[in-house]
Amino acid sequence: MKAFIHAAKIYTGEAIINKEGRMLKPADVSAIADGAIVFDEKKIHWVGTTKELPKKFQKLKATHLKNKNAIIPGLIDSHTHLVFAGSRAQEFARRCAGATYQEIANEGGGILTTVNATRAAKFEELFESALKRALIAYRHGVRTIECKSGYGLDHETEIKCLKVVAALKQALPQMTFISTYLGAHAIPIDQKRSQYIDEMLHKTLPAVKKARLADICDVFIDEGYYSLAEGERILRTAKKLGLHTKIHADELTNSESARLAAKLHSLSADHLLKISEKGIAALAKSDTVATLLPGTAFYLKEKYAPARALLDAGACVAVATDFNPGSCYSLNLPLMMNLSALYMHMNSAEIFASVTYSAAKSLGLQETKGALLPGYDSDFIVLPYDHFEEMYYRMGW
Ligand code: NIG
Ligand code: FE
Repeated sequence: MKAFIHAAKIYTGEAIINKEGRMLKPADVSAIADGAIVFDEKKIHWVGTTKELPKKFQKLKATHLKNKNAIIPGLIDSHTHLVFAGSRAQEFARRCAGATYQEIANEGGGILTTVNATRAAKFEELFESALKRALIAYRHGVRTIECKSGYGLDHETEIKCLKVVAALKQALPQMTFISTYLGAHAIPIDQKRSQYIDEMLHKTLPAVKKARLADICDVFIDEGYYSLAEGERILRTAKKLGLHTKIHADELTNSESARLAAKLHSLSADHLLKISEKGIAALAKSDTVATLLPGTAFYLKEKYAPARALLDAGACVAVATDFNPGSCYSLNLPLMMNLSALYMHMNSAEIFASVTYSAAKSLGLQETKGALLPGYDSDFIVLPYDHFEEMYYRMGW
């Protein structure tokens, strides 16, 4: 057992848990000044002020932080497309010169460019690049990261990408990886739509379940991608197999897929740039987390998701990077927190919760991650400054 004592502040997030991440006020970060935390390799045993540290812990080997450092839960990046090969720098340059994301996709570029590169890549190549990316996220304070497949669009490559995530779990025990099967990320050009859907339903999903290659199943419901009915069919099959579900919802156009997420009790509905008022009301009433990806709005020069409307209606909101080669090529979660403050008008507790408790909830991990209380995982970061707000005040550091 070990301890940190005289931390400038320990942000436990206790009030955020009590309020289930809804209607948060700045004080809900539940910061303890001059804090102490007692932990072993797995769990937190005690948190409080240094003055109140119980006698039985006073002989422990303790690190004295001189009231210079704040301690927060390890950040959770709850939406990334970490595993892929190739580069879309040329397409990015075209986009900057005026082509739209959808135009490039319609010409067979976009996601399909990455699919071709990912199919051609060897496992080792995919693993090495994903490992480097995970370590970049780590340096930004991320300790839990969700990783989607979705750049295979065929059975073999989807399985290969999920196996890369399994290998990351072994290679980086200092991080927690959550694996998501997103076979329904786009329509492949070398298979009929209905054939590929059958392959996902009858071959890949059962294989993923059997080999425990994913915790969650995600679908991209949008114009030019999967319809609401197709998405529902895939997610219902995943649920029957015992997987959690998520939706890339109402991103490019409104399809009322956020409402589908609430109806299916999905863990989260993500993106939501084009969510309707009915969609907002449905999420606010549900246990489905609204996951916002401000880096994607920024990178696509789109209007930001209506964060305030969601928060004021009582939704539980997470923020993630959406790291991917097309619509947000960034692994910097604190930068997304900065965008959330500036352009989505979120307060400090809402930002804190969006990358801790609410992000944990969107991955089904809220019992063990995203808070610093006895019984929770000893998964925290000691910041090089004495308060949390500094983390998103610094832009892109
Ligand atoms: O989350 N929305 C769909 N998929 C990704 C983009 C993927 C890509 O362009 O490669 C996203 O934004
Ligand atoms: Fe995404």
